[in-house]
Amino acid sequence: MLENDKLFTSIIINFMKKRKVWFLTILFTPILMISLITGSSHSLKAASSLGKDTLTMITSPDYPPYEFYNTEKGDRQIVGFDVDIAKTVAQELGFQLKIVESDFNGLIPALQTNRADFAMAGMTPTPERKKNIDFSIIYYQAKDTIVAPKNSNLKQPQDLALKKVGVQLGTIQEENAKKIAQKVTGIQLKQLNKVAEIIQEIKSGRIDAAIVEDAVAKGFVQANPELAFNVIPSEKASGSAIAFPKGSSFVEPFNKVLQQMKDKGELEKLATKWFSQTTSTTTVSSSPSKGGLNLDFSRIIPDIPFILKGIPLTLLFTLLSVFLGLIWGTVLSLCKITGIKPLVWLANAYTSVFRGTPLLLQLALVYYATPQLTGYNISALEAGVLTFTLNSGAYMSETIRGGIQAVDKGQAEAAMSMGVPYSLMMWDIILPQALKNILPALVNETIGLLKDSALVSTIGVVEILRSAQIVGANKYIYFEPLLFAGLIYYLLVMGMTKSASVLENRLKQSE
Ligand code: ARG
Repeated sequence: MLENDKLFTSIIINFMKKRKVWFLTILFTPILMISLITGSSHSLKAASSLGKDTLTMITSPDYPPYEFYNTEKGDRQIVGFDVDIAKTVAQELGFQLKIVESDFNGLIPALQTNRADFAMAGMTPTPERKKNIDFSIIYYQAKDTIVAPKNSNLKQPQDLALKKVGVQLGTIQEENAKKIAQKVTGIQLKQLNKVAEIIQEIKSGRIDAAIVEDAVAKGFVQANPELAFNVIPSEKASGSAIAFPKGSSFVEPFNKVLQQMKDKGELEKLATKWFSQTTSTTTVSSSPSKGGLNLDFSRIIPDIPFILKGIPLTLLFTLLSVFLGLIWGTVLSLCKITGIKPLVWLANAYTSVFRGTPLLLQLALVYYATPQLTGYNISALEAGVLTFTLNSGAYMSETIRGGIQAVDKGQAEAAMSMGVPYSLMMWDIILPQALKNILPALVNETIGLLKDSALVSTIGVVEILRSAQIVGANKYIYFEPLLFAGLIYYLLVMGMTKSASVLENRLKQSE
């Protein structure tokens, strides 16, 4: 972390001191950083691989034992029943397998935009889904259950009258809950992104029960002895199948291999391996929670390296966005002060749009719409950097404009009267001083971006927050990893503030 701060400091100092070097720095730093990023985000890029030797699978690894992160070794492996099947199929068909992730409700959009060749996430074929994607044959049957506190006696659908019921967004459990709600009065649904969040909501009493698939419910209940689950009897079994983009040529070959695996009993074997053991690879907490906040950080100690691995990504993301945002903001602010009407108008309109809409919305738009609009399969990390650059450029343009206008007018006049051309005057005299003026504002912007970087977890970048959530989902706990992530963010911000004040002092001395 200190290394990165030093890098940042020296970049800024270079900016200030060797103005002539600006040009080269501006040109090469992004190139360098992007190559760094693409190196580190290898696993994040979901390229459709038709005609290649690698198949990309997308999944929602919040679903032990189907798919979840094995955080124990800190090596960010997604494992589980589905993953084993995918590996076998890929191998049989002579492909390498690459796994990328998203929230469950992002899987179908990802297939539709060809971000992946197939999705496996314990997904059930429904008529509605079949309109948008194709499915393989069913490879496993599951049943829905009601999960609730042991003493609550919520066991049957009719018990749920007037209760708050949690479901995972976009799943058939959500649909089933809606169906139940048509018959049983007063059910209030709460849709959440991840199963672990739903379990946490039950434990904290904000919802009364949840509808969760049996194998998954079993794991969570074993880890949280105060909960119980009951199979919904009227419910017919719902199968899991592999999902493909509509019209995919992979459906047939996949089906063949799946059928083979069924016939040879290999599916059975995998099912026993994953569904009969005590939940996942994780050891379940022995101490039942007695209600209240009984924190036990020892439970996440083995996973700390996993969470820490999110730091470089968060920092890289933040610094890159600040840097590119600064350049883009400078361009915009120059447009604003040119006095050339169309330029001023455009820059102002741009700023108002990007400041007037939520960052999260911009992020989702860039991530999901770019492949459709441009045909370029933008990775989650690239989408994040692009959105944050566009957004922070809008904010920074205003700051920089203020900084430029605060530079003493006499300087510009003096330069012009000496015949210094406008561009040279801006580049060599005005901008460096403006940058110095706005340094504190820039630091604020950087801190803001650092914290907002947590938003990219929503599109599947495994940065600090996402890593913490993964650990939480894995260990079936929620507070400890989040508190730990909070501590990391706080320390990073403190470090940044500290190095900024060092930088400011140094600049003052150099005056
Ligand atoms: N079987 C359910 C469905 O198809 C839930 C699957 C959820 N999967 C997950 N990885 N979270 O809707």
